[in-house]
Amino acid sequence: MSKKPIYILAIESSCDDTSAAIICNDKVLSNCVANQKIHAAYGGVVPELASRAHQQNIVPVVAQAIQKANINKKDVNAIAFTRGPGLMGSLLVGTSFAKSLSLALGVPLLDINHMQGHVLAHFIAAENCPKPMFPFLCLTISGGHTQIVKVTDYFEMEVLGETIDDAVGEAFDKSAKILNLPYPGGPLIDKYAQLGNPKAYSFTKPKVGPLDFSFSGLKTAILYFVQKMEKENPSFVEENLYDLCASIQDTIVTILMDKLKNAVAATGIKEVAIAGGVSANSEIRKRLKSTEKTLGWTSYIPKFEYTTDNAAMIGIAGYYKYLNNVYSDVDVSANARWKVDQ
Ligand code: KG4
Ligand code: ZN
Repeated sequence: MSKKPIYILAIESSCDDTSAAIICNDKVLSNCVANQKIHAAYGGVVPELASRAHQQNIVPVVAQAIQKANINKKDVNAIAFTRGPGLMGSLLVGTSFAKSLSLALGVPLLDINHMQGHVLAHFIAAENCPKPMFPFLCLTISGGHTQIVKVTDYFEMEVLGETIDDAVGEAFDKSAKILNLPYPGGPLIDKYAQLGNPKAYSFTKPKVGPLDFSFSGLKTAILYFVQKMEKENPSFVEENLYDLCASIQDTIVTILMDKLKNAVAATGIKEVAIAGGVSANSEIRKRLKSTEKTLGWTSYIPKFEYTTDNAAMIGIAGYYKYLNNVYSDVDVSANARWKVDQ
């Protein structure tokens, strides 16, 4: 592998965060994220507003990433960008910007699959974070996806199972909405769950294939349960918020862990990673660590800043493409439905 420092400027704009990063080989020099607060008022991401905010944010975020990394833009060896999957309007902003920058600087363009970026975030050099060995399993859990992926090489990924309806992040966010919590509710459920009893309420788990997921029934079960309880006591949610959060989180994390155990049993692979926004959840992190001890797995948990959407993960994926001279054409177009194993 090349010893020469390779600088990649990476851009991520697939959903509602505008992010730019500079990485030098596998080290992150800067990773700037502009969150779009505007969506909270609507209880979810509004695609048209997201693309407009990306247009406003992208120039300052890229400038900030270059400044923070303390490099000159002439040092950049290649531009990596998220080509998909994601919201088309959002992807178009990052794609057009990356193409223009690559033409202006005269450097290659690297098109990155967002889901591969989440998985490859494990290869960012970080203290106390060893890199997974191939083959490994990755539970990729975010606001848009829920997948168990078998990773045999940097860009060789096979989906073993995935959700047939809602993503797990949606399950967290929609449950939070039922509890009158603002969007995105996942981190708040996590926070309040620490103060509640995870066994206070039980919700039935979905019956789908051993490696597949389904979360839409759980959301409906929670909604009906809350509506029933509020008929008897209108302050039910307020008075029992911590127990409700703990019980919902316990149900979701138990489903995720059961599926991971099924995947390990089916493949015999005991190298297990988690990735994506929901891998920031404290309970899944705890549960993975304890299962590692009881079942003899080696587990990989990403650093907190590389869980939710960020450009550093696009940069590291770009670095491995660059090393293999896998460049993208300048007429490449965004692909909102690009699959991780395509
Ligand atoms: O990967 P990500 O930033 O965006 C997508 O690609 O979708 O994931 C965002 C999702 C949201 O649904 C958010 O509620 C969830 O990750 N999330 C969490 C936590 N932090 C973020 N869910 C549960 N617990 C958390 N601590
Ligand atoms: Zn994501």
